This record gives sequence, structure tokens and C-alpha cells, in this order.
Amino acid sequence: MDIIWYEELQSTLDTAAERAPQLKDRSVIAAGVQTRGRGQGGNKWLSRPWENLLFSQLLKEFKLFGYPILPPDRQFLISRAAALSVVRYLEGFGLHSRIKWPNDIYVGDGKICGILIENTLQGARMGRCVIGIGINLSQREFPADLPNPTSVALLTGRRFDRCALEKELVRWCGVFEDLLNLSPQALTESYEALLYRKGVSAPYRDCRTGESFSGRLLGTLPDGTLRLLDEKGGERNYRFKEVEFIV
Ligand code: BTN
Repeated sequence: MDIIWYEELQSTLDTAAERAPQLKDRSVIAAGVQTRGRGQGGNKWLSRPWENLLFSQLLKEFKLFGYPILPPDRQFLISRAAALSVVRYLEGFGLHSRIKWPNDIYVGDGKICGILIENTLQGARMGRCVIGIGINLSQREFPADLPNPTSVALLTGRRFDRCALEKELVRWCGVFEDLLNLSPQALTESYEALLYRKGVSAPYRDCRTGESFSGRLLGTLPDGTLRLLDEKGGERNYRFKEVEFIV
């Protein structure tokens, strides 16, 4: 697998997508500095220079999870694998993290990693997929308006220089590569077992109606839809951005 490091670029997601025709399947674009790092919902992803892992992996061929070609209706498996890869990767530091649906990674109530996946379709098939991941490693101070950020440094005291960042990315790649060979069932079971708030009653807000309610997180459907059980015993299903976790 090729890993291409840049000193500085706008966003590894954009570079991976722009260079996709020339890049090999599974190439990784990484950067010390992103000048226009992107997060979910049009937010910025800010990171201090050379303190964190900022990278995007390109998938062009979709021989994944036992499928000769992954069908688009199973694309949430990529999301499951990406989230699980970071949880397993963080275990290397003795950190136990959880997946806040669909794929934020939390240690306790602190967000340590964000994942943004951008897929294209080519007719009825997957076109290309770019998996953008930002893992907070050395950063200790964060902008005040970020909700509960944390990092490996804050949790363990470790620091990472450039050379260490490069080694860490190689380690993540190995973890992810192994997960791409798991069966859909094994992957789904591991993902579900690691879901933040699984089985626990907690507050949520329905973004379609504005209603706040208490729900118990049951798990996810194969397409990634979130399943919550409300206090009246009714199951509520939500797509991404349709529900907010009140933390
Ligand atoms: C989120 O909002 O939680 C998703 C953040 C994703 C950040 C990563 S950093 C590497 C890649 N390049 C980007 O511009 N964004 C993703």
C-alpha cells in the first residue's frame, strides 16, 4: 500500500479524490498540515501542524468483506471498518474507545477522532471511496468552541514527532487492511458491540421535529440507520444528521 506524505495541502480528502485516477487502489494521502481540513456537516477540521494524524485512504476496487465487488447498498460496511480500525488502533496505547454513531471515536466523553467518508457511484456500482480520518495524537490544546476534544497525549502523556507519526500511520494501515477481509457479520458484530451508549437510556433530539426525547440505543440496520427505542416502547429509526446525541 502506498503512503504519500505532504508537508502541507488543503485537505487530504480533496487530494486523494483529485489524484484518484493516477493513484493505486488503497493509496493513502497524509499531511502534516491541512489548510482547509473538512469535517462533517460542512464544519472545519482544525489541527496543529504535525501534531495529529491527518490522512485519507482511497478505495478504487471493491473486493471487500468477502464480496467480489461490494454492492452500494452495503457501503456502510466501509464506515464500520473505518470506525473499528481506529478503536483497534487506539487499543495499542491501552485506550478503550467507543464508536459514537455513525463513526466518531470517543474515549469517555471526549472525541479523539473524526471520520468523513466520501463515496461516488458509477452507474449501479461503487465508483470510488475516500476515507478521511483525523486522529488526535499530540495536540493538547484545542479551540474553545470544540465539544469535548481529547487526544492520545492528553490521555497517556505520549508525544509523537514526525517520524513517530509516520510509523503510527503504517500501524493504522495494517489494522485497517485486516478489517477489510472480515465478513460482514463479524464486522457488524464488532461495530455494534463498541457503540457508544448501546443499551443505555440517554437524551436525544430529533432534528426533523426538534423534539427532545429519552431513547435506548438498540443498534444499527445494515444501511447504517440508527435504531432507538423511545420511552413509549416505540422504535425510532434515524439516518445520519436526523438525530442529535445530547451529551
Ligand atoms: C468529523 O467532523 O468528525 C470528521 C473529521 C474528518 C477529518 C479528517 S482529517 C483528514 C481528512 N481530511 C479532511 O479534510 N478531513 C478528514
